Amino acid sequence: MNKTILLEKRPIGKPQLSDFKFVSNEVESINTGEILLKTTYVSVDPYLRGRMSDAKSYVPSFELHKPITSGIVAEVIDSKNNAFKKGDFVSGMLAWKEFQKSTGEGLLKVDASKAPLSTYLGVLGMTGLTAYLGLTEIGKPKKGETIVVSGAAGAVGSVVGQIAKLIGCKVIGIAGTDEKVNMLKSSLGFDKAINYNTTKNMAAAIKEAAPNGVDIYFDNVGGPISDAVLFNINQFARIIICGAISVYNSTELPKSVSVQPFLVKNSALMQGFIVSNYAEKFPEAIKQLSHWLAEGKLTYTETIVEGFDTIPEAFLNLFEGKNSGKMLVKI
Ligand SMILES: NC(=O)c1ccc[n+]([C@@H]2O[C@H](COP(=O)([O-])OP(=O)(O)OC[C@H]3O[C@@H](n4cnc5c(N)ncnc54)[C@H](OP(=O)(O)O)[C@@H]3O)[C@@H](O)[C@H]2O)c1
Repeated sequence: MNKTILLEKRPIGKPQLSDFKFVSNEVESINTGEILLKTTYVSVDPYLRGRMSDAKSYVPSFELHKPITSGIVAEVIDSKNNAFKKGDFVSGMLAWKEFQKSTGEGLLKVDASKAPLSTYLGVLGMTGLTAYLGLTEIGKPKKGETIVVSGAAGAVGSVVGQIAKLIGCKVIGIAGTDEKVNMLKSSLGFDKAINYNTTKNMAAAIKEAAPNGVDIYFDNVGGPISDAVLFNINQFARIIICGAISVYNSTELPKSVSVQPFLVKNSALMQGFIVSNYAEKFPEAIKQLSHWLAEGKLTYTETIVEGFDTIPEAFLNLFEGKNSGKMLVKI
């Protein structure tokens, strides 16, 4: 039998386990041109929260009572398609199913001998690409500049900070626990890190960490943390709006400071970033990330939980900050 996870209800506020439903069906048989896949790793990502609502966005909403999809690494266990053979591993947007068939369209072959399979969903996958392309294309960092990264201990943020260090920036991370703050400084080379949960005045703490002001802000969280950064931006600062996890579960319009005076006074740039808009740059970005990894200049952290049944809980735990680095489920 083959388990599948469906979106049972559109979450209101914080998603609940009851928003998901497990069903079992027989494993499908494959026809000519198709492959049968066994799921190996499932990526759970904050942006999936947006797809669970019916609000218009840059990707379509999930349909109710249909399988949820996300980044998945899977093993080809049967093939009637000449492009794939048994034992190949692929990554792509696939359904939350233990087994599924595919024509292979949109799937990339991944090589476990070149990098651990999990990295194709993290540092060498969508979140690594987001970090590299968001930072370089909009942030345009220069040696000696100061960058603040929110969500710094997560999948995207932890890579952003390390790349900025490689470029020669002063890097300040913001995260939710002392453990994460210590990891940023001791393992990932951040110059400073701030625990937003224990800091009363974030604007003052950022000023203390960045006495010469902030040239780049890589924003993963939005909300009051991002408001506090605005008080510290320099002339010609670049602000990359990558995500806003602090408001993804809000049921009311959040109250934020008005950004316009900060941007006008500082001739600053604030731009939304969606990684899929930069698809033509993916090969170049993966090449650079792989190179840094191989040279030992870039490292990565992962939180891997085990078992197909833990997928919904792993997703919910993103909103509780229970992950360091990329959150994955190993099947
Ligand atoms: N635009 C794009 O193309 C794109 C692509 C990928 C990701 N993203 C966005 O980038 C951001 C990071 O994604 P990710 O995959 O790297 O996730 P992640 O940072 O690995 O995981 C989420 C983290 O967010 C933090 N968090 C949760 N609730 C928070 C709150 N209320 N206030 C502040 N921080 C909170 C938690 O860390 P703490 O313990 O530090 O709170 C948690 O560990 C998300 O907003 C995501 O939607 C955008």
